[in-house]
Amino acid sequence: MGVVVSLSQSALPEQHAEKCGDPLLSREEHAGMCGGLSQSAESTRGIPGSVALSANHRLPPFSQSESLLPGTPGSLASSANQRGRPTASREVPPGVPMSEADAPPPGADPDAEAEGGSEEDSDMELLRNLLARTLGLGTEPPERVLDELSLAGIARFMQSERCRRVVCMVGAGISTAAGIPDFRSPGTGLYANLGRYELPYPEAIFDISYFKQHPEPFFALAKELLPGQLKPTVCHYFMRLLKEKGLLLRCYTQNIDTLERVAGLQPEELVEAHGTFQTAHCLRSSCRHQYDLSWVKEKIFSSLVPKCDKCQSVVKPDIVFFGENLPSRFFSLLQSDFQKVDLLIIMGTSLQVQPFASLVSRVPASTPRLLINKEKTGQSDVFMSLMGFGCGMDFDSDKAYRDVAWLGDCDEGCLALAELLGWKKELQELVRKEHAAIDAVAAPEDTSSASGGDPTSRRGRTDGSGGRAESGGASSEQRGDGKEP
Ligand code: OAD
Repeated sequence: MGVVVSLSQSALPEQHAEKCGDPLLSREEHAGMCGGLSQSAESTRGIPGSVALSANHRLPPFSQSESLLPGTPGSLASSANQRGRPTASREVPPGVPMSEADAPPPGADPDAEAEGGSEEDSDMELLRNLLARTLGLGTEPPERVLDELSLAGIARFMQSERCRRVVCMVGAGISTAAGIPDFRSPGTGLYANLGRYELPYPEAIFDISYFKQHPEPFFALAKELLPGQLKPTVCHYFMRLLKEKGLLLRCYTQNIDTLERVAGLQPEELVEAHGTFQTAHCLRSSCRHQYDLSWVKEKIFSSLVPKCDKCQSVVKPDIVFFGENLPSRFFSLLQSDFQKVDLLIIMGTSLQVQPFASLVSRVPASTPRLLINKEKTGQSDVFMSLMGFGCGMDFDSDKAYRDVAWLGDCDEGCLALAELLGWKKELQELVRKEHAAIDAVAAPEDTSSASGGDPTSRRGRTDGSGGRAESGGASSEQRGDGKEP
């Protein structure tokens, strides 16, 4: 059996009920049972259309893990299996095995639990751990590795011997400075501006069931979103610098704009959690013929819905739609990456979409987490913790010990951090050089502006207007370092 964790829109129980077609279930049951664990509209602070981790209908991903072989890609549940916990018949809230609460404490015998104990014992222990962590009872305080909860504290940590492996988690906010709208920013976000497509709800544009019936809106939008016309931002190049400094373990991105690749990150350094436009496949399961980006682009720019040359079915770019599985690479790599990460940097994401958002809870308890974003996201939420999505971030409470929020523009945040690290000039020079290289490819006759750079990054915008971020500046009540970038 394949991967059972998929993206879904579980904050929309009425729509779910419609698709599910089980009239015997109540609105809540549709939200909670069919859709797996759902972030209700209420629990996500009224953000419309928020989405959550879900099982495929009637197949809760973490309670059916016997179908997932240990170590099999896609097995978020396999952590439970590896620990010997019986999971086949257990109704575990999705995401529970991912949470820190579920991880053995540092120094614990990893086999101890596997050796004995009934299913009930395991469940009780799980519940105890969740409650203990949520209420802050009976657990050893984790080691505090930052000397200060600020950007300066993060920079000093990065310069220390202890920080050797950085994981970045990024979302649409890192690309807005390149001219690509994010999804949920009020007014400017994509979901607020889809009126012309007459969708039943904004996320339908990325919903696989809707797409199969009505592919036109997606392809009309894709015309605007297609990669290859834009320049990576300072933030993208900051990650490139992390790589060049030997610090980048991996970049987990939700973005489909491929700007991380354009900025010079190699495929092995990337997890494109929500897929990519690079390739496309025929939707018919008996065909699945593969097409490349240029083929798809040609159709889209001719305002055609791409149809398979072999069977005439619709061809869909390999981006992950709601209701589809995440790439197996996401599941296989997170198991090891999030165990050994020394620093997590989260940039430009509302952390509203599962399972991606719950990765913040996967890092070891002492690993610092830096959020660079316009608003605070991913914070602790007792409800979500109890539902098994792990403990979110804690920037402000008395117990805060490792989470730092730098609020403001991603590019400015990266520049501020680069300055503290002594990398600012290098970062600015890298951006200048790479953008010039992209411009040179866009306008080959104007070779004077090309000054070298990584040839792999020589794809990009054609309008020559530059993708450099505006100097929006940090508007934070908590800049942390107190410095101007
Ligand atoms: P969102 O639009 O949900 O969140 C973007 C976040 O970035 C928000 O918190 C913004 O405040 C912030 N932001 C925007 N511009 C910024 C800037 N220049 N500097 C700093 N912060 C900025 O986007 P994602 O979290 O990426 O999935 O959304 C996740 C997923 O939801 C997407 O991958 C997509 C969507 O539905 C699929 O389509 C499958």
